Amino acid sequence: MKTKVIAFLNQKGGVGKTTSTINIGAGLAKLQKKVLLVDFDPQASLSCSLGIESPTYSIYHLVKNQVLLEEVVIKKDKLSIIPASIELSSLEQEYRTAAEKEYLLKKIIKSIKGYDYIFIDCPPSLGLLAINALTAAHEVYIPVQTEFLALQGLGQLMDTLSLITSHTNPHLQVGGIIGTRFNRRKINKEVVAYLKSNFKGKAFKTVIRENVALTEAPSFGKDIYSHNPESNGAKDYYALCKEVIARTVNK
Ligand SMILES: Nc1ncnc2c1ncn2[C@@H]1O[C@H](COP(=O)(O)OP(=O)(O)O)[C@@H](O)[C@H]1O
Ligand SMILES: [Mg+2]
Repeated sequence: MKTKVIAFLNQKGGVGKTTSTINIGAGLAKLQKKVLLVDFDPQASLSCSLGIESPTYSIYHLVKNQVLLEEVVIKKDKLSIIPASIELSSLEQEYRTAAEKEYLLKKIIKSIKGYDYIFIDCPPSLGLLAINALTAAHEVYIPVQTEFLALQGLGQLMDTLSLITSHTNPHLQVGGIIGTRFNRRKINKEVVAYLKSNFKGKAFKTVIRENVALTEAPSFGKDIYSHNPESNGAKDYYALCKEVIARTVNK
């Protein structure tokens, strides 16, 4: 299969971008897919959540051409990870006036071979890092917390996507909307209903329930399947992985 590059983006924090990147990635790896996770958030939550603390090199050094790919990729179980580091936060300033500043990540991703999926975990903003991720990606997955105010900001996110498709990446598509942190309250159901009717065919059928095991797993440096395979979190993300495969294979 041709490599599918997917950016996980929502400028709101705490909506489940990192949790989804890790657990969809790990689930697809369990399903025998070759998966690379790129941590593109200076806060490095994805790296930390997988037990990677203070790596020698990160995606920052790769962007700056200071290291080779092999020196940066970390293998963990069946996953490959390119970690982030705090230096990434200075990238925007460093490349402020550079002509090709939107294409820094794309250049790197294009040179990486041998993966079925490359997932990019984005920071909670719509700045240069997010623009780089969207420029490098085939698709964007948008995790949305099924909560009050969750829909606020989606308009601005869609405006950013239009800017990208009219400038740096005409082929970018919304590959999926992921409802996260679902409880059984009325507001949760209302948000899910809204997503399903307003993003027809884009909202995944599987909605991720609020589940304490998903919060615990990162403190053990583990994905949800290794931490607690019987949890609702593991079941939901595994069901979502099957939908992801159905949507992406042979496309
Ligand atoms: N379905 C869920 N159930 C319970 N906790 C969750 C769930 N999804 C995410 N979390 C927790 O919520 C917090 C924010 O999630 P995270 O994935 O880091 O969001 P983002 O990357 O969008 O900022 C983390 O502590 C995470 O463990
Ligand atoms: Mg995050």
